Amino acid sequence: MKVGFAGAGNMVGAIARGWAAGGGPEQMLFIDAVPDRARALADEVGGEALETPAELVEASDLVVLGFKPNDLDDAAAGLSGAGAVLSMLGATPLSRIAEAFPGAAAMRIMPNQPVAVRRGVVCLSVADGVDGGLRDEVKTLLEKLGTVVELDEELIDGATAIMSCSPAYFALVAEALADAGIAQAELEPELAQRMVRETMAGTAELLAGVEPAELRRMVASPGGSTEVGLEALERAGVAEAFADAVKASLARMRP
Ligand SMILES: NC(=O)c1ccc[n+]([C@@H]2O[C@H](COP(=O)([O-])OP(=O)(O)OC[C@H]3O[C@@H](n4cnc5c(N)ncnc54)[C@H](OP(=O)(O)O)[C@@H]3O)[C@@H](O)[C@H]2O)c1
Repeated sequence: MKVGFAGAGNMVGAIARGWAAGGGPEQMLFIDAVPDRARALADEVGGEALETPAELVEASDLVVLGFKPNDLDDAAAGLSGAGAVLSMLGATPLSRIAEAFPGAAAMRIMPNQPVAVRRGVVCLSVADGVDGGLRDEVKTLLEKLGTVVELDEELIDGATAIMSCSPAYFALVAEALADAGIAQAELEPELAQRMVRETMAGTAELLAGVEPAELRRMVASPGGSTEVGLEALERAGVAEAFADAVKASLARMRP
């Protein structure tokens, strides 16, 4: 399958890098509002940059919509004639995609940045009437990027709040924890950051087999240094802060 990306920004870059690492489509083609961006990404991942949306449509079996949601109407005008589109636009329902691309097979994904290292989560919704063979081919390609979750469309915004926004939250936790170690325990920055990063990665693997509450109990012995740390986090309202973050994201997606 030849996949054409309209937009060569952060999220498209992550998908293209994941596919370039193995199991990607037969060919990756790129355009961007800034042509140099498309050229740089194509050079990096072994794809091809094209000049116009019409060329992208002509050369692609599947057009991936990789621009910001506000650019949908302008972009769709240039991409008209696409036979199959895969949208990654946040908070943009399939009905809007189908309206912008009448007659095209419309699919929607919500990916996250770890697709770049093939450890992503990709939520997938497919419009009624899309050919089963096409859907399976797209799903097989997406599975090369990590875990694919087929989801009723009405759940995608909620999923976005916890799997697509959250790499930024985990990055914030990593930064804050390493900074605290640097400031309060005089650890070298590079060492503190490496220890936090590796601990996060190992904890994620452990959580595949242990409930979060159980893991907390395994680390925090009564009266010990972890327990007082957890109490400090609780006093600071960490759980409420994450609830507020999800609420704020949902409110932004559903004004
Ligand atoms: N970033 C994430 O982690 C993430 C996660 C899940 C979903 N998404 C979704 O992915 C989409 C892209 O997000 P992003 O963070 O990758 O944005 P981004 O880095 O700003 O990339 C978007 C790129 O598309 C270009 N562009 C704008 N209009 C275009 C058009 N008509 N044709 C071709 N290229 C065009 C932009 O150029 P200009 O900058 O010049 O406008 C920019 O280079 C959004 O819809 C977002 O909701 C992002």
